[in-house]
Amino acid sequence: MNNSLWLLNSNITFLNHGSYGATPIPVLNYQTYLREKLEQEPVDFMAQQLEPLLDEAREKLANFINIDSPNIAFIPNATFGVNTVLRSLYFKPGDEILITNHIYNACLNTVELVAKQTGAKVIIASIPFPLTSLEQIINPILDKVSSRTKITLIDHITSQTALIFPLEYLVKELSQRGVETLIDGAHAPGFLPLNLRKIGATYYTGNCHKWLCAPKGAAFLYVRPDKQSQIRPLIISHGANSTRSDRSRFLLEFDWMGTNDYTPYLCIPKAIEVMGNLFNNGWLGLWENNHLLARQGRDIICERLNICLPCPDEMIGSMASIPLPKLSVSGDKLYHDLREEFKIQIPIIPWGNEQYLVRISAQFYNNLEQYEYLIDVLSRYC
Ligand SMILES: Cc1ncc(COP(=O)(O)O)c(C=O)c1O
Repeated sequence: MNNSLWLLNSNITFLNHGSYGATPIPVLNYQTYLREKLEQEPVDFMAQQLEPLLDEAREKLANFINIDSPNIAFIPNATFGVNTVLRSLYFKPGDEILITNHIYNACLNTVELVAKQTGAKVIIASIPFPLTSLEQIINPILDKVSSRTKITLIDHITSQTALIFPLEYLVKELSQRGVETLIDGAHAPGFLPLNLRKIGATYYTGNCHKWLCAPKGAAFLYVRPDKQSQIRPLIISHGANSTRSDRSRFLLEFDWMGTNDYTPYLCIPKAIEVMGNLFNNGWLGLWENNHLLARQGRDIICERLNICLPCPDEMIGSMASIPLPKLSVSGDKLYHDLREEFKIQIPIIPWGNEQYLVRISAQFYNNLEQYEYLIDVLSRYC
């Protein structure tokens, strides 16, 4: 395993970068340096140094995802981002919130709470998996748009099924129909070249602690400038009545949500640098490496376990979900045995009627032998 840059336990076959990421040692060291700086002079760090450091980190992240930096706010995670937008917007009874059946469970809970509190209706577009064409993603979503659709919450990369949705096209079509778009890009930063300007969503949230490999608790929320006055952080703090005129209310509110450890945000540039230095051609090299490994891993699993490829190659990036043949045990038992007996960390995900998916991740430290080992173990259960 090519893992000298990570603290990962070498006794574990770690095939689940997707859930929480894993942070390289140089980035963790930088975070320790920042935390020590904070503790040497806590008041000066929080009151004087933090804001310019946040601005600097924001600028670097904004360049990486191609957007103007004043339009992104740091937040701890994508769940926070989805909650922030949905709980800021005003919904009337009968307004429709359009989602898909591939939505992440935590975000579904948010949508359902907001709907219950406001009388809005949740409309679910049903997208099949396995699938063979982009139309099978696009048509179910567009078919569910009505004159009452206020917002569509769609994933950029789905969690259970690990599909890359055709976001640019969907956002364009939805905005032509007058529908706002909230994109859950929890996996996207560092997973694929992310270009927010090109996507053109109304709201976009993405995690930096997953595929960008920043420390845990580093994410962002993009809000289109004309919507920023409506979007308030979940935590109201000093920014709400600040008399400062040198910064937007949006940044004044989001940049300070009470005393906290803000160092994960400040480490984002370091993570971009460290991960971007793994290959001579930078991030492009890492994306090519991870995508190829995920595809090869998926293909050998499918071939050896006699499973049809569940989606076209272009729909996967650094993860791939594979529907498992009928199991001899429950999904929970399989997950338990993989973890406890075989020391493989990988999600086994319920999908549909008695169907389970296994989702592989491919990060720099993974290799094909690890998927071979997974196949040997899975074949005892399928
Ligand atoms: C699609 C999707 N949305 C949201 C999340 C939540 O991310 P976080 O726990 O960092 O908020 C995840 C986590 O895996 C996810 O896959």
